Amino acid sequence: MSIKIKKILNKKNKLKIICLTAYSKNFAEEVDKYADITLVGDSLGSVLYNYNSTKKVTLTNMIDHSKSVRMGVKKSLMVVDMPYNTYKSNSSALKNARKIIKETKCDAVKLEGGKKIISQINHLIKNKISVMGHLGLLPQTAKGKFKSKGKTEKEKKQLINDALLLQTSGVFAIVLECIKASTAKQITKYLKIPTIGIGSSVHCDGQVLVTDDLIGLNVTNIRFVKKFINFRKYINQGLKRFTTEVKLKKYPSKKHSY
Ligand code: KIV
Repeated sequence: MSIKIKKILNKKNKLKIICLTAYSKNFAEEVDKYADITLVGDSLGSVLYNYNSTKKVTLTNMIDHSKSVRMGVKKSLMVVDMPYNTYKSNSSALKNARKIIKETKCDAVKLEGGKKIISQINHLIKNKISVMGHLGLLPQTAKGKFKSKGKTEKEKKQLINDALLLQTSGVFAIVLECIKASTAKQITKYLKIPTIGIGSSVHCDGQVLVTDDLIGLNVTNIRFVKKFINFRKYINQGLKRFTTEVKLKKYPSKKHSY
């Protein structure tokens, strides 16, 4: 187990774990200052490419963005989402995970699902690949409107079983997406490994958000997203000043000319 992963595991029950997404070098440089985990999420499909589903994200998309992110990540653990359809069998999961790691030099991969993909997860871990789990709302396979999970007794039991199964297989942490607070709390209590919540209450060991959402660059009305700043306002200020100075012939001045 890497030192970075050990540090993350040691935070359980002591300190909150910060996980943030990045899709490019400049963002990664800033995210890396705060995050324990920098995630190249396949959410880039909707955030950058306007896809209506992460199903459309390709391995090439993920590898290209991750290569850029790698240049900005120095201290945090870099995790890359394996896109839809790239881990259908044990052999394809291993082939594609190895390709992602070889080309992007990331530290770990993340796969969505529990029991249904446990064979692939076991296979990756047996082959010394670090894996992060993802339970609850699974955007790659969700049908129709996104709904929260873990509300019924049946769903709760299934989520707890899946979480324990993932822990036994050796994943180092599990993202819990849109899970009812009391269920997320129970899962977090049962596990020795950390849970990273997104829309799953304060009871998780850490939190993840899409960086573009929390800075107000990506406009969304998802309930769990809090806009911590309005980054578009700052972009507009800069662009407006540039436009004004160009029109007034104040820019470029002599200082910015040859
Ligand atoms: O794709 C993504 O960015 C994610 C996080 C939101 C957990 O999976």
